[in-house]
Amino acid sequence: MKIEPAERLSHLPVYLFDDLDNQKAAAISKGIDVIDLGVGDPDRPTPDYIIDVLCEKARDDRYHHYPSFKGLPEYRNAVSGWYKRRFNVDLDPNTEILSLIGSKIGVALLPFALCNPGDVVLIPNPCYTAYRPGITLAGARIAEMPLLEKNGFMPDLSSIPSDVARSAKLMLLNHPGNPTAALASEKFFREVVDFARQYNIAVSHDAPYSEATYDGEVALSFLQTPGAKEVGVEFHSCSKVFNMPGWRCAYCSGNSTIISALGKVRSNIDMGQFEPVQLAAAAALNGSMDHPRKMAAMYQERRDALCGGLDELGWKVIWPKATFFVWTRVPTEMSSGEFAKALLEKAGVLISPGSAFGSLGEGYIRIALTVEVDRIREAVDRIRKAGFVY
Ligand SMILES: Cc1ncc(COP(=O)(O)O)c(C=O)c1O
Repeated sequence: MKIEPAERLSHLPVYLFDDLDNQKAAAISKGIDVIDLGVGDPDRPTPDYIIDVLCEKARDDRYHHYPSFKGLPEYRNAVSGWYKRRFNVDLDPNTEILSLIGSKIGVALLPFALCNPGDVVLIPNPCYTAYRPGITLAGARIAEMPLLEKNGFMPDLSSIPSDVARSAKLMLLNHPGNPTAALASEKFFREVVDFARQYNIAVSHDAPYSEATYDGEVALSFLQTPGAKEVGVEFHSCSKVFNMPGWRCAYCSGNSTIISALGKVRSNIDMGQFEPVQLAAAAALNGSMDHPRKMAAMYQERRDALCGGLDELGWKVIWPKATFFVWTRVPTEMSSGEFAKALLEKAGVLISPGSAFGSLGEGYIRIALTVEVDRIREAVDRIRKAGFVY
């Protein structure tokens, strides 16, 4: 018997990190000690005060049943409390917050909740790799908003042709951005609300890096913008804020119609998050924000070591003000893929080629700040010794 995967799979790209994992495994098998600056996976462990809650609650058999897909009230109340304290945004925990087993699945399922086949979804180019597959699988069409260096890697709404805007059903945004690290201003978010109202487009803002900001920057929530709740939702996650990527704990907040539509898709597909995980995440959200602040200071120190070190090698790096990523030009004539390959082979340093995030990522590379500062210094030293000096 021959098993033929569905035709729709042929439209999906190879998952970037599978490719990076393969390259890493091949380098390791050749005896190279790889410094992995590829994936944006927080390297420090989840803090003990969060793990303790999980351990205690996991022993309580009341939580061993199927969870509700909406999320425990304790969890949704904690999200609502955090949004109020952090952003001064009021959210009704019953109608305006949905728990998710990771924001990745949330952003991927959103087109299923809002788009009919053929509808247009506006997405940034380059962008987080999970945006395109959900749109493609839902049968919707992609229209790109270029993120250009000359615009500070922000979408230029005025350059979206009006026929494209008229046919768009949904716009995906992400600030601070992966991979570009761009931070959105209040003015930009106001323009988004106006644009969304003018063309009747739902907005999704993905904000998992809101707490990883440097140099005194403070990231805004889209939901702080007047009218935002009328047009859209925001995805947020415990993965990056509390070093909990493996726990799969996230949420979507904002417009109740969108929340309910996304909830309907989810309730038919997954069973929700293990409740002790939700209670541990609730403790994190209700607790002090010292941990995320310490992590931001740590990433800033790593950024300084990496960007300062590479600038000494003549790279002319763009220093990010947020996220765990340095998004900068390939410092030589090579393509981003060739350069990433050469860096791995000659220096044992793994980075992501910008082309993996969209066609306009070509010419750029993404370097993750997810190893200790000593290892970052070692990476710079190896890069220098391997001759990547300009
Ligand atoms: C922009 C963006 N959104 C969402 C996610 C996924 O986060 P989660 O762990 O909540 O699925 C990531 C992870 O790298 C990301 O970079």
